[in-house]
Amino acid sequence: MRTQVAIIGGGPSGLLLAQLLHGQGISSIVLERQTRDHVLSRIRAGVLEQGLVGLLEEVGCGDRLHTEGFTHDGTLISFGDEMFRVDFTEHVGKPVVVYGQTEVTRDLYAARDASGGQTIHSVENVVIKGANTASPTVVFEVDGEASIIECDFVAGCDGFHGVSRKTIPETVRRDYEKVYPFGWLGILSETPPVNHELIYANSSRGFALCSMRNANLSRYYIQCDLDDSPDNWSDEAFWNELRRRIPPDQASALVTGPSVEKSIAPLRSFVTEPMRWGRLFLCGDAAHIVPPTGAKGLNTAASDVNYLYRALAEFYKTGSESGLDEYSAKALARVWKAERFSWWFTTLMHRFPGQSEFDLKMQIADLEFLRSSASAQKAMAENYVGLPY
Ligand code: APR
Ligand code: PHB
Repeated sequence: MRTQVAIIGGGPSGLLLAQLLHGQGISSIVLERQTRDHVLSRIRAGVLEQGLVGLLEEVGCGDRLHTEGFTHDGTLISFGDEMFRVDFTEHVGKPVVVYGQTEVTRDLYAARDASGGQTIHSVENVVIKGANTASPTVVFEVDGEASIIECDFVAGCDGFHGVSRKTIPETVRRDYEKVYPFGWLGILSETPPVNHELIYANSSRGFALCSMRNANLSRYYIQCDLDDSPDNWSDEAFWNELRRRIPPDQASALVTGPSVEKSIAPLRSFVTEPMRWGRLFLCGDAAHIVPPTGAKGLNTAASDVNYLYRALAEFYKTGSESGLDEYSAKALARVWKAERFSWWFTTLMHRFPGQSEFDLKMQIADLEFLRSSASAQKAMAENYVGLPY
C-alpha cells in the first residue's frame, strides 16, 4: 500500500488529522488496533475549546456538535459550602462547548467514511521502519496477514500505550512525568445533570466533579485512593459520598439513578520531547498526558493536529519543510502551558494525602483569591477556554 501520511491510531487525534489532510488533498491511511465499536465504547471528557470546534467545523463535523452540544459560558467552583462562578464569556469573550468525546469520535468516523478514507481496524504488530529516512514504512498484520505501507510521513496518534513514542530512540527522547497520589472514580447515569454548568468541588473529603453528556446523561467523579476499586462502591455509596462533597443546595437537587458505567482513572502529567523524529510526528496522548481536571486532553491533541496538518499542507503545496521543522517546538510550547494549567487546577482542587495544615491554608487562600479577583478568574478562564493556537 502507498499513501502520503500513514496515521497510527484511530482515536480523535488520528481521525481529526486524517480529515484535515483530506481537506488539503493529502492522502492518508489510518491504522487502528481496536474495532470501531471498541473505540466508540470509551467514555471520555468532552469539554471542547473553540479551536477544536473550528477544526471540527472545517472537516464537516459541526452539525451535531452545534445541535446536541451545550454552550457553557462559565463553570462553578465550590470549596466547603461556598460556591462561586467563573464567567468565561465575561472574562475572555468566549465559551466552551460540552459535547462527549465519544460523539466527536463518532462524527469523525462518519466523516472518514463519507470521504472514502481508508481506516484499517484490528491491526496488530505495528512497526514503524525508517522513520529517520526519506521513505518510512509501516508494517502491520491483520488476522496474521502481514502488510506494508510505503509513505512520506508517519503520524503517531496511537495514545500513551502506542508504539510511536517508543519508536523514538531513548537516546533522543526525554520523558517528564508526575503521578498524582489519587484517582477519579467516575459514574455515568441516565439522570438529568445536577446543574446546567459543571461544578468543580474541593471538599474536606476530597475532590468531586459534576458534569454531563446531555440533558439526561450525567457524569460525576469523586477523588479516590489509587488502590481503590469500582467494586468497592455501590451506586448508593457513590451518591452519598458525592452529596457530602458538593454544596448542600446542590446535594439536595441531585437526581440519582443506576450507574450505566463506573470506573477509576489514575491521574498523571506526562510529556515526551521531542514530538518529532525524522518523518515521524507525535500527536495527542502519544506525546503527552494531562490530569483530566482541566479537560485539556482532547483539546491539546487538537492543537498538535492543527500544527501538524498545516505543516504537511505547506510541505506538499510549496516543498517547504519549515513548518515541519518548527512542529515539535511549536506544539510543545502550547502543550507545556496546558500541562501547567492542568497541574495547577489539580493541585488547587484535590486533597493530597499527608497535606500539611500550611498546604491546606495555601489551597484555601488560592481559592479565596480566585473567588475575589477578576484577574485571577480571567487567567483561569483564558486557560480553560483554550490559549490561542
Ligand atoms: N496500532 C494502532 N492503533 C493503536 C496502537 C497501535 N500500536 N496503540 C494504540 N492504538 C490506538 C488506540 O486503540 C486508540 O484508539 O490509538 C488510539 C489512540 O487514541 P487515544 O488514546 O484516544 O488518544 P488521542 O487520539 O491522542 O486522543 C486524545 O483521548 O485518551 C483521551 O484524554 C485523552 O482526550 C484525550 C484524547
Ligand atoms: C467529563 O465530563 O467527563 C469531564 C468534564 C470536565 C473535566 C473532566 C471530565 O475537567
